[in-house]
Amino acid sequence: MIILEGKGLEKRYRGHDAAIEALKGVDFRLDDGEILGIAGESGSGKSTLLKLIAGLEPPTAGTLSLHGKPLRFRRAKGEYRAMQMIFQNAAESFNPRRTILDSITRTVRSLRGRGEEVDAEALSAMVNLSPELMRRYPRQLSGGQCQRFAIARAMAVRPEILLCDEITSALDVSSQAQILRLILDICRERNTGAIFVSHDLAVLSCLCDRVMVMRGGAVVEQGDIGQVIQAPRQDYTRRLVESVLQI
Ligand SMILES: Nc1ncnc2c1ncn2[C@@H]1O[C@H](COP(=O)(O)OP(=O)(O)OP(=O)(O)O)[C@@H](O)[C@H]1O
Ligand SMILES: [Mg+2]
Repeated sequence: MIILEGKGLEKRYRGHDAAIEALKGVDFRLDDGEILGIAGESGSGKSTLLKLIAGLEPPTAGTLSLHGKPLRFRRAKGEYRAMQMIFQNAAESFNPRRTILDSITRTVRSLRGRGEEVDAEALSAMVNLSPELMRRYPRQLSGGQCQRFAIARAMAVRPEILLCDEITSALDVSSQAQILRLILDICRERNTGAIFVSHDLAVLSCLCDRVMVMRGGAVVEQGDIGQVIQAPRQDYTRRLVESVLQI
């Protein structure tokens, strides 16, 4: 069953002399509980697509729909709640003047209702951290710990879809693997869908059911992750795969 769908999505930014066409007619869909990967070189439009989906920016043209209902740029609270974004730099996504627990509580209350309580024990356990760390300020935590709490904050809202933009690229390889494993377990356990942006096909291959490859604002290839990696149809995808294999 399709939960989220985009049709003919275009995004134009004003440039110095000419307009920048960041997205040139992108179609995509996300099925119930599915993890979709988006790959592509720098500047191919991956983050732009995620921003349109998250409602951070309006599309220039095209439509998005959630459960078959059109998603306008100005969204209802339930629509915000349905999709939660996790960013590359988690530490910056928390207010430096609030403890992690305070930040998470505020997010949950604004999206789920004033009376909502946050279960610090359960949430920290979900991301394998001690609940005491939740009473700290972001600057008192490591990047990996902040990233885990960013995942906890997103999940505390009980979204249907997680939107992740290069969320492990600031971490070392072993923390990267742990965070990816964590996201995968949480999504499977709660039947939460995810759209996972990464320029690294290796990251996507251990996480995603399906992958979409972007270039110059368009989708050039998509399909089952195994098929795209083993038998890419486009030279561009083949080069992406080869560049990963070299590393
Ligand atoms: N706010 C903006 N104003 C003008 N141009 C923008 C803006 N945001 C993105 N762009 C341009 O749109 C294109 C796509 O950018 P986008 O950030 O989506 O790429 P990306 O695939 O996420 O790249 P990366 O892997 O480096 O994060 C780029 O050419 C970028 O310079
Ligand atoms: Mg990006």
